[in-house]
Amino acid sequence: MCGIVGYVGRRQVAEVLLESLRCLEYRGYDSAGMAVINSKGVEVHKRVGKLNALADAIKRHPIIGHVGVGHTRWATHGEPTELNAHPHTDCTGDLAIVHNGIIENYAELKERLVGRGHTFKSQTDTEVIAHLIEERLKRHPMGEAFRLALKELRGSYAVCLLSAHEPRRLFGARSGSPLIVGVGKGEAFFASDVPAVLARTRRVLYLNDEEVVVLSAEGPKVMTLEGQAVTRRPSTVNWNIAAARKGGFAHFMLKEIHEQPRTVEQTLFNRLSVERRQIAFDRHTQTFLNRLSVQEKLVIIACGTAYHAGLVGQYMLEEFARLPVDVDLASEFRYRGPMLDKHTTVLAITQSGETADTLAGIRLAKEQGAKVLAICNVVGSSIAREADAVLYTHAGPEIAVASTKAYTAQLTALALLTLYLAKRRRGVGPARWRELVEELARLPQIIEQTLRIEPAVKLVAEQYASPRNFYFLGRRYNFPSALEGALKLKEVCPLIHAEGYAAGEMKHGPISLIHNGWPIVFVATHSPVYDKIISNIEEVRARKGECVVIASDGDARIKRYADSLLTVPQTSEFLSPIVVAIPLQLFAYYVAGANGCDIDQPPNLAKSVTVE
Ligand code: M6R
Repeated sequence: MCGIVGYVGRRQVAEVLLESLRCLEYRGYDSAGMAVINSKGVEVHKRVGKLNALADAIKRHPIIGHVGVGHTRWATHGEPTELNAHPHTDCTGDLAIVHNGIIENYAELKERLVGRGHTFKSQTDTEVIAHLIEERLKRHPMGEAFRLALKELRGSYAVCLLSAHEPRRLFGARSGSPLIVGVGKGEAFFASDVPAVLARTRRVLYLNDEEVVVLSAEGPKVMTLEGQAVTRRPSTVNWNIAAARKGGFAHFMLKEIHEQPRTVEQTLFNRLSVERRQIAFDRHTQTFLNRLSVQEKLVIIACGTAYHAGLVGQYMLEEFARLPVDVDLASEFRYRGPMLDKHTTVLAITQSGETADTLAGIRLAKEQGAKVLAICNVVGSSIAREADAVLYTHAGPEIAVASTKAYTAQLTALALLTLYLAKRRRGVGPARWRELVEELARLPQIIEQTLRIEPAVKLVAEQYASPRNFYFLGRRYNFPSALEGALKLKEVCPLIHAEGYAAGEMKHGPISLIHNGWPIVFVATHSPVYDKIISNIEEVRARKGECVVIASDGDARIKRYADSLLTVPQTSEFLSPIVVAIPLQLFAYYVAGANGCDIDQPPNLAKSVTVE
């Protein structure tokens, strides 16, 4: 979703803003703009399309200045046009604002402001904020006018304001959308996400909802929306800019696929000890989990890929921890009137920790007395801060819109959680527990080995680059893998329609579409339902569908059922979704590549969905 940046310091601001905005491109956007303050007042430049269009415009008409704000817009209210692009200004042109989120009461505010003589230039909800501040400025100094205007907003926002009235300062605030402050030496930054400031500083201050910041080159002054001063020290980010760059790969998606042996290792690090036959977490999380281990029910909420991880988690936790689990799409959970109480634990799974539906879901859970555990990748994100306990995945920054390494890290965290609870709930015998722990410890090497099938996957993907419809089928633990395989393909190759199904569900409808040459990707690794999957493959072949089969190494029987065969190392069914994720991700990547798609930033998609 929209990306926000702001800078106060001694460098030429246009350069800094462009560089920071580039680090936020992964969030998805359709127009970009910036506003800078200089002797001419507030200068605004905007362009539709990619950042290069804005960079070219600025090259032709350089803007000089040391304080400014920038924005990449992912259209919600009004089409992606130059007029609707941010920053938005008030009637005087002295104020310029950038915003991420949705102002729900913008229509009524706009009507009131128009009644008071304000002229609007765009169709956006954001522009009302600039005019509201302008209105408040008639009676209040800048900082107060900003704060009072924000108090009138309903909905979600992260905002940064540039003002000719305070040319050496920026004003920022958040409520429901992410905003961080980067603290450098004699310079300071606003940004929607950490990668945008990493080239300049690793000292970051995470803002809470309803906090306001006045930012100068000396640093931030934080206060509540009520004007009360807040004391908070910046924390140091433990990864650097190299982790947020492509490192020689053609795309972030490919880089992140290849990072998986390391990222899974990081998720396991310090938590799994085969010698001591122990799984351990930090003390706080462990206390939380010990309480969960005597509970009767767990509800998992998540969106998209993280939801698929939750579905795998349900199989894991029910089979080995014998803990009843419900899994809900966070966007449905909050509207279905869930029955929660203090005996329920809600587990939110999220890469970004900022997904609006998941965040709303955990707030609802807490209101109803449930405890909240999060599996989250981004330290300091909203969900990480609001949850009662967090199991961080430590997968490092995930930049490609299509989630890959965050997914396998989530599955690894779920495997750890399952085995931890399985021991306490005596859901599995000690010998089997030990086998699973040993296999989990070998997972980084298993993934390394799995990645060796990349050339084979590329060949198969290129062979299947032209069909426009795909089914992905699997059963049990790999039913969610089928959903995820289909999601990956349609995300990165928007020319293709791909559906994931439980293979046993085929005969209840979807099979009607299968005809000569229709490609079906089957996940058919060893499992208790292996024979049933073979029957499903037979059903498809009888209708002349083309079967791409992902099977276990050494499976001689499967050969005659597959038009194209990809094999992965043998594992327990418990860990197989992590391993089969690799060929599924690579398949999507290479089909998209063969179709010339914009792999890292697919159209219409945003990395972090911070609006409902
Ligand atoms: O940051 P989150 O894990 O909460 O995001 C949830 C989904 O928006 C996300 O997984 C989305 O489906 C990805 N683009 C999948 O590749």
